[in-house]
Amino acid sequence: MQIAEIKKMFLETFGGEDKDLRVFTSPGRVNLIGEHVDYCGGPVFPAALTMKTTIVARKRNDNKIRLKATDLDILVEAEIGDLEKWKGQLKWGDYQLGVAVEMEKAGYTLTGCDLMYDDTVPHGGGLSSSAAIEVSTALMFAKFSNEANDKPDAPINMVEMALLSQKAEHNYIGVKCGIMDQFASAMGKADHAIFLDCATLGYELVPLNLGDCCLIISNTNKKHSLGASKYNERRMECEAGLKALQTVMPEIKQLADVSPEEFEQHKAVITDPIVQKRIKHVVLECARVHKSVQALKAGDIATFGQLMNDSHDSLQYDYEVSCDELDILAQEARKLPYVIGSRMTGAGFGGSTVSIVKTAHAQDFINTLDPLYEEKVGYKASFYISDIGDGGMEVK
Ligand code: GLA
Repeated sequence: MQIAEIKKMFLETFGGEDKDLRVFTSPGRVNLIGEHVDYCGGPVFPAALTMKTTIVARKRNDNKIRLKATDLDILVEAEIGDLEKWKGQLKWGDYQLGVAVEMEKAGYTLTGCDLMYDDTVPHGGGLSSSAAIEVSTALMFAKFSNEANDKPDAPINMVEMALLSQKAEHNYIGVKCGIMDQFASAMGKADHAIFLDCATLGYELVPLNLGDCCLIISNTNKKHSLGASKYNERRMECEAGLKALQTVMPEIKQLADVSPEEFEQHKAVITDPIVQKRIKHVVLECARVHKSVQALKAGDIATFGQLMNDSHDSLQYDYEVSCDELDILAQEARKLPYVIGSRMTGAGFGGSTVSIVKTAHAQDFINTLDPLYEEKVGYKASFYISDIGDGGMEVK
C-alpha cells in the first residue's frame, strides 16, 4: 500500500489529524547463501528487499499501545507495564509486543502509541516478514524514547535494534533464531548484499553486480511455521555435534571454526549419523559462503550459481530442511539454460527459492515455472523479480 493509503486507514481507525503521523519502515530479506549457519557463528550473505513493513505511528499521552494492520480486522490494545501477559495469547501483534518488552528491559522509555502496520513482505514466504515487523517497531520505539528523554537527534544504533528484535523472537515468540534476518533488515543497503560474520557481527557491504543477470524469488506459497518446524531441533543437533567435536578440538568455540579438512579428520567422534550429516552441512556451507563472496567480487557469476546449487542440495539431503515444493522449484529452475543457480532461501520447510537468471529471460523463467509448479503441486507459486533495498529508517 502507498503511505497515503495507510495514513488514511490510520485516521479512519484511530481518528485525529494527518500532521501528527510518523512513518517507519524496515524490509524483508533474501539470503543469497549461508543457510542455517548464523546460529553456528558462521558467515551469511543476505540482502534487504524492497518488500517491507511500513508503520504509521502516533504517540499517545497515556500508557496504551494500540495495534492494527491494514489487512486484518483485529485491534490489539495493550498496556505498557503489562505486556508480558499477552505472550502466546494473540492471533497477531506478538512480534510488536515482544519487541516492546525487550526495549524496556534494555532501558528504553516506552511511549504509548497508536500504530497501523502494512506489510508487503509475504507472510510465511521465508523472506523475514517477522524481522521486518520487529526492526521497524524497535526503531520506532527507540526514536520515541530518545524524544521522551529530550534527545530527539541522538543516533539510533541499528545493530542494537537487530539484537533486541532477535531477543524478542527468542523470548516472546519462542524461536531460537540466529541474527541474520534482523541484521539484514536493520543494516541493508540498496543494491548491496551483506557479508556478515555472525560470530563477531563484523560485516561488509558487497555491491550486488550480477552483470546481465537478475534475482528471482519464487514463493512456494506453502506456509512454513518456524516455531512448529524443526528449527529448534536443528539447533540442538548442532550443539550436540559441537560438543562431540570439542572432545578432540577443545579450541573450537563454534561450528564455524571447523574447516572442511578438520571435519573429515574428526567426524567419527560424532557417532550419531544424523548429527554428522547436519554438521557436514554447516561446515561446508560456511566454506561455500566465503567462496561465493570471492566469486561475486571477481564477477564470476557462474561459480556463484554453482555454489548456490550445492547449497540447496546440502540443505535438501544433509540438513533436511527442504520440502518437495522447494525442491521442485529449485530443480526445475536449474534445467533452464538461462538459470545460473537456484536454491531455497530462509529456514525452509516451505517459503521461497532464490534464483540467478539472465535478465533477458526473466519473463520466460516465470512463464515456464508457473504452470509447471501448479501442475505438480496443485496450487500456484508466486514470483518476484527482486530489487535490493535499504534497511530500516524513518520516512520523512
Ligand atoms: C531463519 C532464522 C535465521 C536463519 C535462517 C536459516 O530465517 O530467523 O536466523 O537461521 O532461518 O538460515
